[in-house]
Amino acid sequence: MNASPMAAPPAGARADWTIDQAWERYGAAEHAVWTTLYQRQAKMLAGRACDAFMRGLEALDLRRGGIPNFETMNLELRRLTGWSVVAVPGLLPDAMFFEHLANRRFPAGRFIRDGAHLDYLQEPDVFHDVFGHVPMLTDPTFADYMQAYGQGGLRAGQLSHLHHLARLYWYTVEFGLMQTGEGLRIYGAGIVSSRAESIFALDDPSPNRLAFDLERVMRTPYRIDDFQQAYFVIPSLDALLAATLQDFAPIYARLEMASDIPIDAVLPTDTAFTRGTQAYAKSRLVGAAP
Ligand code: PHE
Ligand code: CO
Repeated sequence: MNASPMAAPPAGARADWTIDQAWERYGAAEHAVWTTLYQRQAKMLAGRACDAFMRGLEALDLRRGGIPNFETMNLELRRLTGWSVVAVPGLLPDAMFFEHLANRRFPAGRFIRDGAHLDYLQEPDVFHDVFGHVPMLTDPTFADYMQAYGQGGLRAGQLSHLHHLARLYWYTVEFGLMQTGEGLRIYGAGIVSSRAESIFALDDPSPNRLAFDLERVMRTPYRIDDFQQAYFVIPSLDALLAATLQDFAPIYARLEMASDIPIDAVLPTDTAFTRGTQAYAKSRLVGAAP
């Protein structure tokens, strides 16, 4: 789990937990892992990821080959939306993470996954953090949303409702889907950076795909160990930003009285794009009774 808010940064990190990316220290094998992952995903995401993501990928020129140099990438990112990427040694204390977002800095891991385990990740690496998250940060609306989320995180921490706000992050920033004229599209970083989930999230009959509703999302637990059982679909990035501009304090107060919603539920009040079979999730219940 994340370190306590008062924890000192690890040895070698600055007070704000950042480190140098030390781009010149990556070896050829590490660059090759990026290139393999990049080529695999970029091809598959055409027609699956939303336009904002594809535009961002293009604008940042992340296919020069090899792991991007944050310094070079930040020149363009700063010009587009005022965001920049900073390298960090691993997961940050919540307050430090929010502080960076509130100042339009996205903390990214510096290491890259092992070439023998391209699909297996315990902790976010530079491919997830940069390929997954940074293209969306070139979109002005999403850029504002992420900054507001950082500010909201600092407040939610004081109000002891971080677990509710974390669900919003999970079901939007990490696993969000969007409705478009061409059908559902992906904008969540956890999906676009995963080959298998890029297919599962859009095409598999198993998960529920439900219209985004702020309070509903905050009442829904999520899975960190496997594909999601529910995805939430926003009508547009503008609608997402508009829905989160309100003061969350009254919502948090209501949530104190409200129970969590089972992860696989479709409620009478839900608008369902897909009523999932949940077949995949059931198949993964090892040793469960039939
Ligand atoms: N409006 C939220 C609040 O009052 C802040 C927030 C904005 C949270 C956007 C998440 C996303 O706390
Ligand atoms: Co992420």
